[in-house]
Amino acid sequence: MDFTFQNYSWGHPVLRHLVKLQESAKNRGVPEDIQSQIQNCIDCVIAGEDYCNSVSSPPSAAIDNLIKETENHPWKQAYEGGELDWEVSPVMLSGALEGSFLKTLTSIANAKRVLEVGLFTGCAALAIAEALPADGKVISCEIGKYVGDVARKLVDQSPHGKKIDIMIGPASESLQQLATEGQKFDMVFIDANKEGYIEYYNIIMDNDLLDFRGTILIDNTFHGGQSYLSQDKLELEEDRIEINVMRGFNDHVYNDDRVSQVLVPIRDGVTIIRRKAEFEGEV
Ligand SMILES: C[S@@+](CC[C@H](N)C(=O)[O-])C[C@H]1O[C@@H](n2cnc3c(N)ncnc32)[C@H](O)[C@@H]1O
Repeated sequence: MDFTFQNYSWGHPVLRHLVKLQESAKNRGVPEDIQSQIQNCIDCVIAGEDYCNSVSSPPSAAIDNLIKETENHPWKQAYEGGELDWEVSPVMLSGALEGSFLKTLTSIANAKRVLEVGLFTGCAALAIAEALPADGKVISCEIGKYVGDVARKLVDQSPHGKKIDIMIGPASESLQQLATEGQKFDMVFIDANKEGYIEYYNIIMDNDLLDFRGTILIDNTFHGGQSYLSQDKLELEEDRIEINVMRGFNDHVYNDDRVSQVLVPIRDGVTIIRRKAEFEGEV
Protein backbone atom coordinates (compact mmCIF):
# COMPACT_ATOMS: atom_id res chain seq x y z
CA MET A 1 0.00 0.00 0.00
CA ASP A 2 1.42 3.42 -0.94
CA PHE A 3 2.06 5.64 2.01
CA THR A 4 0.89 9.20 1.58
CA PHE A 5 0.20 11.97 4.06
CA GLN A 6 -2.30 13.37 1.57
CA ASN A 7 -5.32 11.73 3.18
CA TYR A 8 -4.31 12.85 6.64
CA SER A 9 -4.01 16.61 6.35
CA TRP A 10 -1.41 17.37 9.05
CA GLY A 11 -0.57 13.69 9.10
CA HIS A 12 -1.70 11.27 11.77
CA PRO A 13 0.75 11.48 14.72
CA VAL A 14 0.98 7.66 14.94
CA LEU A 15 1.94 7.53 11.26
CA ARG A 16 4.63 10.16 11.74
CA HIS A 17 6.15 8.04 14.52
CA LEU A 18 5.84 4.81 12.55
CA VAL A 19 7.51 6.28 9.47
CA LYS A 20 10.39 7.49 11.65
CA LEU A 21 10.62 4.08 13.31
CA GLN A 22 10.60 2.38 9.91
CA GLU A 23 13.49 4.56 8.71
CA SER A 24 15.63 3.87 11.78
CA ALA A 25 14.82 0.14 11.61
CA LYS A 26 16.02 0.10 7.99
CA ASN A 27 19.16 2.13 8.76
CA ARG A 28 20.08 -0.11 11.70
CA GLY A 29 19.51 -3.33 9.78
CA VAL A 30 16.74 -4.54 12.12
CA PRO A 31 15.52 -8.08 11.14
CA GLU A 32 13.10 -8.20 8.20
CA ASP A 33 10.20 -9.65 10.22
CA ILE A 34 10.26 -6.65 12.59
CA GLN A 35 10.45 -4.25 9.64
CA SER A 36 7.47 -5.95 8.09
CA GLN A 37 5.54 -5.67 11.38
CA ILE A 38 6.17 -1.92 11.33
CA GLN A 39 4.86 -1.83 7.76
CA ASN A 40 1.77 -3.75 8.96
CA CYS A 41 1.12 -1.03 11.56
CA ILE A 42 1.39 1.70 8.90
CA ASP A 43 -0.94 -0.25 6.60
CA CYS A 44 -3.50 -0.70 9.40
CA VAL A 45 -3.76 3.04 10.06
CA ILE A 46 -4.00 3.87 6.36
CA ALA A 47 -6.47 1.05 5.65
CA GLY A 48 -8.97 2.50 8.15
CA GLU A 49 -9.18 5.84 6.34
CA ASP A 50 -9.11 4.16 2.92
CA TYR A 51 -11.98 1.91 4.01
CA CYS A 52 -14.06 4.95 5.06
CA ASN A 53 -13.51 6.35 1.56
CA SER A 54 -14.24 3.06 -0.17
CA VAL A 55 -17.63 2.42 1.47
CA SER A 56 -18.81 6.05 1.51
CA SER A 57 -20.66 7.38 -1.54
CA PRO A 58 -18.09 8.58 -4.06
CA PRO A 59 -17.70 12.33 -4.68
CA SER A 60 -19.44 13.87 -7.68
CA ALA A 61 -17.48 14.07 -10.94
CA ALA A 62 -17.09 17.84 -10.34
CA ILE A 63 -15.54 17.34 -6.90
CA ASP A 64 -13.35 14.52 -8.17
CA ASN A 65 -12.14 16.85 -10.92
CA LEU A 66 -11.63 19.75 -8.45
CA ILE A 67 -9.44 17.53 -6.25
CA LYS A 68 -7.34 16.35 -9.22
CA GLU A 69 -6.96 19.88 -10.60
CA THR A 70 -5.91 21.14 -7.15
CA GLU A 71 -3.31 18.39 -6.86
CA ASN A 72 -1.94 19.12 -10.35
CA HIS A 73 -2.03 22.92 -10.12
CA PRO A 74 1.37 24.63 -10.50
CA TRP A 75 1.27 26.17 -6.97
CA LYS A 76 5.06 26.36 -6.68
CA GLN A 77 5.31 28.23 -9.97
CA ALA A 78 2.58 30.67 -8.87
CA TYR A 79 4.45 31.30 -5.60
CA GLU A 80 7.80 31.79 -7.33
CA GLY A 81 6.15 34.08 -9.89
CA GLY A 82 4.85 36.28 -7.05
CA GLU A 83 1.15 35.47 -7.62
CA LEU A 84 0.89 33.89 -4.18
CA ASP A 85 2.19 35.44 -0.95
CA TRP A 86 2.86 32.07 0.64
CA GLU A 87 3.46 28.54 -0.54
CA VAL A 88 0.17 26.72 -0.96
CA SER A 89 -0.14 22.94 -0.88
CA PRO A 90 -2.93 20.56 -1.97
CA VAL A 91 -2.67 19.09 1.57
CA MET A 92 -4.93 22.04 2.53
CA LEU A 93 -7.85 20.39 0.68
CA SER A 94 -10.65 19.06 2.82
CA GLY A 95 -10.98 16.14 0.36
CA ALA A 96 -13.63 13.66 -0.73
CA LEU A 97 -14.45 12.06 2.65
CA GLU A 98 -14.77 15.30 4.59
CA GLY A 99 -16.66 16.84 1.66
CA SER A 100 -19.10 13.96 1.86
CA PHE A 101 -19.41 14.44 5.64
CA LEU A 102 -20.17 18.15 5.21
CA LYS A 103 -22.66 17.45 2.41
CA THR A 104 -24.44 14.94 4.67
CA LEU A 105 -24.61 17.42 7.57
CA THR A 106 -25.93 20.12 5.22
CA SER A 107 -28.65 17.75 4.12
CA ILE A 108 -29.52 16.66 7.71
CA ALA A 109 -29.71 20.32 8.78
CA ASN A 110 -31.90 21.24 5.79
CA ALA A 111 -29.56 24.20 5.48
CA LYS A 112 -30.23 26.93 2.94
CA ARG A 113 -27.56 29.49 3.76
CA VAL A 114 -24.03 28.39 4.68
CA LEU A 115 -20.99 30.44 5.60
CA GLU A 116 -17.47 29.09 5.06
CA VAL A 117 -14.31 30.65 6.48
CA GLY A 118 -11.37 29.46 4.34
CA LEU A 119 -12.31 28.47 0.76
CA PHE A 120 -9.01 27.30 -0.79
CA THR A 121 -10.02 25.71 -4.13
CA GLY A 122 -13.64 25.18 -3.10
CA CYS A 123 -13.87 21.47 -2.23
CA ALA A 124 -16.03 21.90 0.90
CA ALA A 125 -17.96 24.82 -0.60
CA LEU A 126 -18.95 22.72 -3.62
CA ALA A 127 -19.76 19.63 -1.54
CA ILE A 128 -22.06 21.77 0.65
CA ALA A 129 -23.57 23.53 -2.40
CA GLU A 130 -24.47 20.13 -3.87
CA ALA A 131 -26.83 19.52 -0.91
CA LEU A 132 -28.49 22.96 -1.00
CA PRO A 133 -31.81 23.80 -2.67
CA ALA A 134 -31.64 25.71 -5.98
CA ASP A 135 -31.96 29.07 -4.16
CA GLY A 136 -29.43 28.08 -1.45
CA LYS A 137 -26.19 30.00 -0.91
CA VAL A 138 -22.67 29.33 0.32
CA ILE A 139 -20.74 32.51 1.13
CA SER A 140 -17.07 31.67 1.45
CA CYS A 141 -14.32 33.94 2.82
CA GLU A 142 -10.84 33.61 1.33
CA ILE A 143 -7.85 35.87 1.87
CA GLY A 144 -5.98 35.03 -1.36
CA LYS A 145 -7.21 36.47 -4.66
CA TYR A 146 -5.19 33.99 -6.73
CA VAL A 147 -6.62 31.05 -4.75
CA GLY A 148 -10.12 32.53 -4.98
CA ASP A 149 -9.81 32.84 -8.78
CA VAL A 150 -8.70 29.20 -9.08
CA ALA A 151 -11.68 28.14 -6.91
CA ARG A 152 -14.13 30.20 -8.99
CA LYS A 153 -13.05 28.45 -12.19
CA LEU A 154 -13.22 25.00 -10.57
CA VAL A 155 -16.59 25.33 -8.85
CA ASP A 156 -18.14 26.90 -11.97
CA GLN A 157 -17.53 23.64 -13.80
CA SER A 158 -20.45 22.33 -11.71
CA PRO A 159 -24.08 23.53 -12.07
CA HIS A 160 -23.99 24.00 -8.25
CA GLY A 161 -21.15 26.53 -8.55
CA LYS A 162 -23.67 29.35 -9.04
CA LYS A 163 -24.74 28.94 -5.39
CA ILE A 164 -21.22 29.90 -4.19
CA ASP A 165 -20.28 33.56 -3.53
CA ILE A 166 -16.63 34.30 -2.72
CA MET A 167 -15.54 37.20 -0.48
CA ILE A 168 -11.86 38.00 -0.96
CA GLY A 169 -10.04 39.55 2.02
CA PRO A 170 -9.16 38.78 5.63
CA ALA A 171 -11.99 36.71 7.13
CA SER A 172 -12.31 38.96 10.19
CA GLU A 173 -13.22 41.89 7.89
CA SER A 174 -15.60 39.84 5.74
CA LEU A 175 -17.36 38.47 8.84
CA GLN A 176 -17.73 41.97 10.30
CA GLN A 177 -19.23 43.12 6.99
CA LEU A 178 -21.71 40.22 6.95
CA ALA A 179 -22.62 41.00 10.58
CA THR A 180 -23.20 44.68 9.76
CA GLU A 181 -25.47 43.61 6.91
CA GLY A 182 -27.45 41.51 9.41
CA GLN A 183 -26.85 38.26 7.50
CA LYS A 184 -27.79 34.91 9.08
CA PHE A 185 -26.57 31.39 8.34
CA ASP A 186 -27.95 27.93 9.08
CA MET A 187 -24.49 26.41 9.05
CA VAL A 188 -20.94 27.74 9.36
CA PHE A 189 -17.76 25.85 8.46
CA ILE A 190 -14.53 27.35 9.86
CA ASP A 191 -11.41 26.08 8.06
CA ALA A 192 -8.90 28.93 7.72
CA ASN A 193 -5.83 30.17 9.66
CA LYS A 194 -6.02 28.43 13.02
CA GLU A 195 -4.86 31.43 15.09
CA GLY A 196 -7.94 33.32 13.87
CA TYR A 197 -10.49 30.71 15.00
CA ILE A 198 -11.36 32.29 18.37
CA GLU A 199 -11.93 35.67 16.73
CA TYR A 200 -14.07 34.17 13.92
CA TYR A 201 -16.09 32.11 16.42
CA ASN A 202 -16.68 35.18 18.62
CA ILE A 203 -17.77 37.39 15.71
CA ILE A 204 -20.16 34.68 14.51
CA MET A 205 -21.68 33.97 17.95
CA ASP A 206 -21.72 37.51 19.33
CA ASN A 207 -23.35 39.03 16.23
CA ASP A 208 -25.82 36.18 15.67
CA LEU A 209 -24.39 35.45 12.22
CA LEU A 210 -25.34 31.93 13.23
CA ASP A 211 -29.09 31.53 13.02
CA PHE A 212 -30.65 30.57 16.35
CA ARG A 213 -31.09 26.95 15.23
CA GLY A 214 -27.79 26.89 13.35
CA THR A 215 -24.70 24.66 13.55
CA ILE A 216 -21.01 25.59 13.51
CA LEU A 217 -18.49 23.06 12.18
CA ILE A 218 -14.81 23.53 13.00
CA ASP A 219 -12.10 21.78 11.01
CA ASN A 220 -8.73 20.59 12.30
CA THR A 221 -9.61 20.46 15.98
CA PHE A 222 -6.94 17.71 16.43
CA HIS A 223 -4.39 19.96 14.70
CA GLY A 224 -2.30 16.94 13.77
CA GLY A 225 -2.34 15.77 17.41
CA GLN A 226 -1.24 19.13 18.83
CA SER A 227 -4.49 19.50 20.76
CA TYR A 228 -3.85 16.39 22.88
CA LEU A 229 -0.10 15.58 22.71
CA SER A 230 2.90 17.17 24.35
CA GLN A 231 5.61 18.60 22.10
CA ASP A 232 7.97 15.61 22.58
CA LYS A 233 5.30 13.22 21.24
CA LEU A 234 4.39 15.16 18.10
CA GLU A 235 7.17 14.20 15.69
CA LEU A 236 6.64 17.48 13.82
CA GLU A 237 9.20 19.91 12.43
CA GLU A 238 9.93 22.72 14.89
CA ASP A 239 8.44 25.41 12.60
CA ARG A 240 5.08 23.59 12.44
CA ILE A 241 4.61 23.40 16.18
CA GLU A 242 1.92 25.67 17.60
CA ILE A 243 0.53 23.51 20.38
CA ASN A 244 -1.62 26.10 22.11
CA VAL A 245 -3.52 27.33 19.08
CA MET A 246 -6.24 24.68 18.62
CA ARG A 247 -6.00 23.58 22.23
CA GLY A 248 -6.83 27.17 23.18
CA PHE A 249 -9.71 27.25 20.71
CA ASN A 250 -11.15 23.92 21.93
CA ASP A 251 -10.96 25.19 25.54
CA HIS A 252 -12.64 28.44 24.49
CA VAL A 253 -15.63 26.54 23.06
CA TYR A 254 -15.68 24.13 26.03
CA ASN A 255 -15.95 27.10 28.40
CA ASP A 256 -18.67 28.86 26.40
CA ASP A 257 -21.91 28.23 28.32
CA ARG A 258 -24.04 29.07 25.30
CA VAL A 259 -23.13 25.94 23.36
CA SER A 260 -22.91 22.14 23.32
CA GLN A 261 -20.24 20.55 21.16
CA VAL A 262 -18.82 17.21 20.09
CA LEU A 263 -15.42 16.54 18.52
CA VAL A 264 -15.82 13.93 15.78
CA PRO A 265 -12.56 12.04 15.02
CA ILE A 266 -12.86 12.23 11.23
CA ARG A 267 -9.60 13.13 9.46
CA ASP A 268 -7.96 15.93 11.49
CA GLY A 269 -10.99 16.28 13.79
CA VAL A 270 -14.22 18.17 13.11
CA THR A 271 -16.10 19.74 16.03
CA ILE A 272 -19.85 20.22 15.71
CA ILE A 273 -21.26 23.06 17.81
CA ARG A 274 -24.93 23.88 18.54
CA ARG A 275 -26.56 26.44 20.78
CA LYS A 276 -27.56 24.70 24.03
CA ALA A 277 -31.09 26.05 23.84
CA GLU A 278 -31.60 24.24 20.53
CA PHE A 279 -29.68 21.13 21.50
CA GLU A 280 -31.42 19.91 24.64
CA GLY A 281 -34.68 18.06 24.11
CA GLU A 282 -37.84 18.63 26.12
CA VAL A 283 -39.33 16.37 28.82
C1 LIG B 1 -7.32 24.65 4.91
S1 LIG B 1 -7.60 25.76 3.62
C2 LIG B 1 -9.34 25.62 3.36
C3 LIG B 1 -9.74 24.31 2.72
C4 LIG B 1 -11.13 24.34 2.14
N1 LIG B 1 -12.13 24.63 3.14
C5 LIG B 1 -11.45 23.02 1.44
O1 LIG B 1 -12.57 22.54 1.58
O2 LIG B 1 -10.60 22.48 0.74
C6 LIG B 1 -7.50 27.31 4.43
C7 LIG B 1 -7.79 28.51 3.52
O3 LIG B 1 -7.94 29.65 4.37
C8 LIG B 1 -7.36 30.76 3.73
N2 LIG B 1 -7.02 31.76 4.75
C9 LIG B 1 -5.93 31.79 5.53
N3 LIG B 1 -5.96 32.87 6.33
C10 LIG B 1 -7.12 33.52 6.05
C11 LIG B 1 -7.73 34.70 6.55
N4 LIG B 1 -7.15 35.44 7.50
N5 LIG B 1 -8.89 35.08 6.02
C12 LIG B 1 -9.51 34.33 5.06
N6 LIG B 1 -8.97 33.21 4.54
C13 LIG B 1 -7.79 32.80 5.04
C14 LIG B 1 -6.14 30.17 3.02
O4 LIG B 1 -5.74 31.02 1.96
C15 LIG B 1 -6.65 28.82 2.55
O5 LIG B 1 -7.13 28.89 1.23
